[in-house]
Amino acid sequence: MQLNITVLPGDGIGPEVTRQAVRVLRAVSDLGGHDFRFEERAIGGAAFERFGSPLPPATLDACLESDAVLLGAVGAPKYDALPTSTRPEAGLLTLRRALGGFANLRPAISHPAIVHCSPLQRVVVEGANILVVRELLGGIYFGEPRELNLSEGSARNTMCYTEGEIERVAHVAFAQARNRRRLVTSVDKANVLETSQLWRQVVKRVAAEYPDVKLEHLYVDACAMHLMMDPRRFDVILTENLFGDILSDEAAVITGSLGMLPSATIGGEVDLYEPIHGSAPDLAGRGVANPLGAIWSAALLLRHTAAMEAEAADIENAIWDVLQDGHFTRDLQRDASARATSTAEMGDLVEQSLADWVSRRHAFHAV
Ligand code: IPM
Ligand code: MN
Repeated sequence: MQLNITVLPGDGIGPEVTRQAVRVLRAVSDLGGHDFRFEERAIGGAAFERFGSPLPPATLDACLESDAVLLGAVGAPKYDALPTSTRPEAGLLTLRRALGGFANLRPAISHPAIVHCSPLQRVVVEGANILVVRELLGGIYFGEPRELNLSEGSARNTMCYTEGEIERVAHVAFAQARNRRRLVTSVDKANVLETSQLWRQVVKRVAAEYPDVKLEHLYVDACAMHLMMDPRRFDVILTENLFGDILSDEAAVITGSLGMLPSATIGGEVDLYEPIHGSAPDLAGRGVANPLGAIWSAALLLRHTAAMEAEAADIENAIWDVLQDGHFTRDLQRDASARATSTAEMGDLVEQSLADWVSRRHAFHAV
C-alpha cells in the first residue's frame, strides 16, 4: 500500500504529538512492507509567523494532492488579538472547507484500561462507548453574515443549514450505527432554533432508510446532562457543528482526558485526521502531552482512508495494552505523585507493542 500523507504539526503541543503519530505510522509501514510517505507543511500560528498566513498556498496545495492529512493542533493566546481571518483557527477552518470532509467522527471510549482515569464513578462510565458524528462544514462556524463591529458595540454570527448538508452527515451517522449498537441520538435545540427544526425533520426522513437503526432526539442541554449522568445510554450522537464541538469535549470526561480523543473527517476530497485536544500552550515543549489522541487519529486514517482495518486495529490494541500496563501521561494520572510517562516514551511504548501485535497477526495467518 502506498500512502501520501501531509503532516501539519501546527502550534503548541501539535508538533510533539504528531511526531509520535508519524513514528507509529512509519512502524506500520516498515513492519508491513508498505510505502507511506510524509510531507510536512506549516499551518496555524506557526505558518503565520513564517509566511504571513495561517494557511499558506503551499500547504493547501500539498494537502489537496495527498491521500490524507494528519494535523496536530492550531492556536495560541498570542494570536488572540488578530482579526478572525488571520487567526490560526481560520487556517484550520479554511482547510476543512477546502478538503470537503463534512462528517467528523469523534469516538470516546471508556476502555477498562482507563476506566479509573475518569473523574466520574466507575459504575457510571464503565463500558461507555460513544461516537460523536459532528457536522463540520456548516452551521454558525461558517454562516454569513458575520461581523464584529466594535465601534457600535455589536457583533453577529449566523447559524444556517440546508437540507443537503444535514442529509449527507445523517447518512454517515446511520451507516456508522449499523456497525455498532444501532442507536442514533440526534441532538438539536428544536424548541428554540429553526435550523434545529429543519435538522430534526431531515434526520427523521433519512432514518426511514435505516429501519434497523433506532433514532431518538435530544435537546442539546439535556444531552449535556445525560452524557455525564449515564454515558452508556449513547451509541452514535449525531449533531451540528457547534454542538458537536462542545459535546465532544464533554465526552472526553468519560475517558479522563481530552488527550484521549481522536477524530476523522470524511466525505470530502481528502480526509483529515486530528486529535480533538487543541494546542494546549501551557503544556507545549515540555514532553508531557498525551500523544494517544494523535496516534489513534493515525489509526483512523488507516481504517477510513486506506481500508487497512487490521493495521488500524493493531494500533488501537497497542494503545490499550500500553495503558493496561500502567503507563500514563500526566493528564491521565489520578495519583499526582506517581511518575508520568513522557510524550516520546508513550510513542516508543506504543511502537513496541504494535510490533508484538503485528507479529502475532502474521503468526496467526501463517498457521
Ligand atoms: C476542534 C477545535 C476547533 C473547532 C478549533 C481549533 C477551530 O476546537 O476541532 O474541536 O472548533 O472545530
Ligand atoms: Mn473543540
